[in-house]
Amino acid sequence: MFKTLPGFREFYPEDCAKKNYIFGVWQKVARSFGFSEFEPPVLEQLDLFTEKSGEEIKSQLFEFVDKGGRAVSLRPEMTPSLARMVGARAGGIRRPVKWFAIGENYRYERQQKGRLRAFFQYNADILGEESLNADAEIIALLIESLRGFGLTENEFKLRLGDRNLWVLFLESAGVPEDKIIPVLSVVDKLEKVSPEALDEMTAKAIEGTGLDASVLIEKIRKFIVINDVDSMRSAFDVEGELLERVEKRIAQWRELISILESLGVGAFISPDLGIVRGLAYYTGFVFEAFQTVGTGRALAGGGRYDNLVKKLGYQDMSAVGFGMGDVTVADLLELTGKTGALVDAPDAYLVIGSDSVRSKALELATSLRRSGVKVDYPLKSQSFGKQFKQADAVGAKKAIILGEDELSAGVVKVKDLKSGEETQCAFADIQKIFE
Ligand code: HAM
Repeated sequence: MFKTLPGFREFYPEDCAKKNYIFGVWQKVARSFGFSEFEPPVLEQLDLFTEKSGEEIKSQLFEFVDKGGRAVSLRPEMTPSLARMVGARAGGIRRPVKWFAIGENYRYERQQKGRLRAFFQYNADILGEESLNADAEIIALLIESLRGFGLTENEFKLRLGDRNLWVLFLESAGVPEDKIIPVLSVVDKLEKVSPEALDEMTAKAIEGTGLDASVLIEKIRKFIVINDVDSMRSAFDVEGELLERVEKRIAQWRELISILESLGVGAFISPDLGIVRGLAYYTGFVFEAFQTVGTGRALAGGGRYDNLVKKLGYQDMSAVGFGMGDVTVADLLELTGKTGALVDAPDAYLVIGSDSVRSKALELATSLRRSGVKVDYPLKSQSFGKQFKQADAVGAKKAIILGEDELSAGVVKVKDLKSGEETQCAFADIQKIFE
């Protein structure tokens, strides 16, 4: 007997129905924001990810050498491929680029709830627009994409952090420029590892700088818990040019929050400097959406990444975006009972009275299907009782009954399977029942 591989799912029809419902909401909301769909390849050159995605993802790659001797990897995320696709057309592309994609990603993750090795992810990104309006648009789209399921601010929040402010803070603490990214990855781990491991990681990150790891950690611990804009300002004891940069950034915080309020999503936003994000390419505001009921897991994450397109060898192009996984979203919908229409039910089940009317029944089924009505019927001769049972089992809304009497009168009987109400309808008018 064969089993599915750890972390991989198989989708039975009822699972596909749930998945399609989720994808449908994402697509509808993304389009309502003026985003167009794109699709990157599933398999890419290995370097695209080893150089661009950051340490954690590097250790999780599904990588191998293909038959042509190329080092390749299944995609763990879509952002580097997106940056390449947009970069390749950057000369002539209409800006801002507003693109979304839904597809499967692969990460060799440690088995844990909500984390799989193959998961679907919805990505939306804006490239070629550096103003805060783009950050706000992306954050609003993320929130509306969850609101589209009927989820409210009582069920999820968006925690908004800022790598830019962290850089200013670490600079003010004396961390040299080339050590800032390593220290930020320690900050990202702060709540996840033991104090001893943290000391060790910090010491390694600031090796050769002469800074004291425990003093730096102390400072970081105070900064990381800040969750309002006024405290951000007062956490800095600086002057001169650094002070100017801090003040400019704080003003941008206030502006971003005000745009988000205009977009109607202010109630979902919690400023939170504990969010720094694990991926290496982020440069500015970063954010994660978390469920506030149940396990409190991450539903989505993203941020600004202004250097990635250039790092791939194309022209300079600013970017901001997010990725949202299907696993935690589906779990949250289950938990809150907001699962939507979860089965692929037909609109009508055609009950075929006898073999002599089957040919007419098939003709009617075809004409209904061609006009967009979902129709099912029995593939072999069955009693009325069995056919009605089946109509119920597949969740049909109506039964259309065709027997010999109906055939000779040129009509069908139509039964509403919920109310039990029965009417009659001429063959020629059958489509009108579903208008
Ligand atoms: P990420 O934080 O690695 O960001 O992933 C975003 C979301 O994908 C997570 O919040 C989670 O919902 C889902 N996800 C990630 N890994 C797994 C997994 N192993 N199993 C199930 N779900 C998972 C990125 O991937 C960035 N590329 C997002 C982005 C787009 N940033 C800018 N544009």
